[in-house]
Amino acid sequence: MRPFTVSMNLDNINFNGNHIVRRYEDIKSIFKSTDISLEGKNPVIYEVFESPVPEQQGHLIFLVTILYPGKVNEEFFMTKGHYHTVENTAEVYLGIKGKGLILCQTKSGDFEVAEISENRVVYIPPFWAHRAVNIFDEPLIFFGIYPAHAGHDYETIAQSGFVKRVFSKNGRVVIE
Ligand SMILES: [Fe+2]
Repeated sequence: MRPFTVSMNLDNINFNGNHIVRRYEDIKSIFKSTDISLEGKNPVIYEVFESPVPEQQGHLIFLVTILYPGKVNEEFFMTKGHYHTVENTAEVYLGIKGKGLILCQTKSGDFEVAEISENRVVYIPPFWAHRAVNIFDEPLIFFGIYPAHAGHDYETIAQSGFVKRVFSKNGRVVIE
């Protein structure tokens, strides 16, 4: 493989790699309750643009996530969240636009909330699951980098969820 560059123009992101689009119907089971008002619309909740890099040790995968604003009943739009399959691998996020929270937890029950916003860097150490939550009324956009062999374990989160959820209640952000 040879060095390459891609454009970060947010109006037209195309890294020539995986483009993952998650709609409400795809991921509604991650929310506390279903929302009848979203059933027909089936909005895109988030999309991820990944770099075209082999999933091999030594490489780094970089990505841009766009997490749209919205709620499922009172619960803010969020990503599925995952552990890395190779658990001792970290990840770095750089906030580009919007405001959100990165929920982090370990299998031993540790839990942490990191704020992400424009120009803020979040470091997710090895062994910490991570999920992004958009707590603002515009898209949350962040850049990320992780070891290309890390893999995604969505199943553990699908079964046990995160320790806490993030809601909008009376105009306030509530983590409970
Ligand atoms: Fe990750």
